Amino acid sequence: MPKRIFSGVQPTGNIHLGNYLGALRNWVALQREYESFFCIVNLHAITIAQDPETLAEKTRELARIYLAVGIDPEVSTILVQSDLSEHAELTWLLNCITRMSELERMTQFKDKARKQQENVGVGLFDYPVLMASDILLYQTDLVPVGEDQKQHLELTRDIAIRFNRDYGETFRVPEAFIPQVGARIMSLADPTKKMSKSDEESEAGCVMLLDDADVVRRKFKRAVTDSGTEIRFDSTRPAINNLLTIYQLLTQKSPEEIEIHFAGKGYSQLKAELAEITIEFLQPFQERVSRIDDDKLDEILKAGAARAQLIAGATLAQAKHNMGLIGARS
Ligand code: TYM
Repeated sequence: MPKRIFSGVQPTGNIHLGNYLGALRNWVALQREYESFFCIVNLHAITIAQDPETLAEKTRELARIYLAVGIDPEVSTILVQSDLSEHAELTWLLNCITRMSELERMTQFKDKARKQQENVGVGLFDYPVLMASDILLYQTDLVPVGEDQKQHLELTRDIAIRFNRDYGETFRVPEAFIPQVGARIMSLADPTKKMSKSDEESEAGCVMLLDDADVVRRKFKRAVTDSGTEIRFDSTRPAINNLLTIYQLLTQKSPEEIEIHFAGKGYSQLKAELAEITIEFLQPFQERVSRIDDDKLDEILKAGAARAQLIAGATLAQAKHNMGLIGARS
């Protein structure tokens, strides 16, 4: 069987530079080496209340973003999670072998639950099991994600190993692919926190892929910096390190080249250059987003769902069979 990758993004809020540099960028780089499935995980999105009309719009917008960053629908499969009932169905089977204590340990759950206070839904608690289902349905080898998903990946592996042990070989046990550089892009407003689309108070620290040029300039201009004046990669200075990491990924220059380029220059110059480099990347991308027409998008998503269903359906049938979930004989 070909080596496979699977990954996804939630169609909530606005997609930002952290999502691109930590995940989407690597999908594009890997898609020709692997058989690739890229999912718009709208069932994950509803673990926090969403306005239905906005969710539907954001789902299609995210599909456009996938295409505009360079996911090629001729070589990769793009699917919307809710188009396939297999994702929810396998979640039920996996729920029955996952322990409460495992889910209680998930740091993302704890963070999100704290923000929701008393309205913590069962879906939010179960989020990592749905994610495990996504990955295991496609017999995935590699899951390219940012660093914040590492714990969910470890749980996915544990669930797969347990299922295979208890019910016989059913799922491939996946590995996380977490990039060496860019796995955790930090907020420009608070470099101790990751850039995050769900963190409303940190809008100013989050460069959205659909921000216009003036907004991008303003956000970089106001970016927090550390004390000291030297511009060099230094993990003890998180603000400058973060700006330089973004610079490195967008220009593809080496850290040495970048440090030489900025020797003797000030923070304001770094911020101004970074803003222009980001805009140079975003403008053609945004143009591509706006050029994708609705009919073409429908065609791609329908074809993606059909292709994905062949694999997801076969895996689910095998898992049900192995668990003894058999009724009428065909
Ligand atoms: P989501 O939508 O929160 O984030 C999408 C991807 O972006 C990465 N990311 C970041 N990378 C670097 N720096 C940041 N500041 C940053 N913020 C986010 C995330 O690590 C992720 O790769 N649970 C997933 C969605 C999901 C999924 C899956 C992923 C559902 N099923 C199956 C892989 C496989 C999530 O919350 O993504």
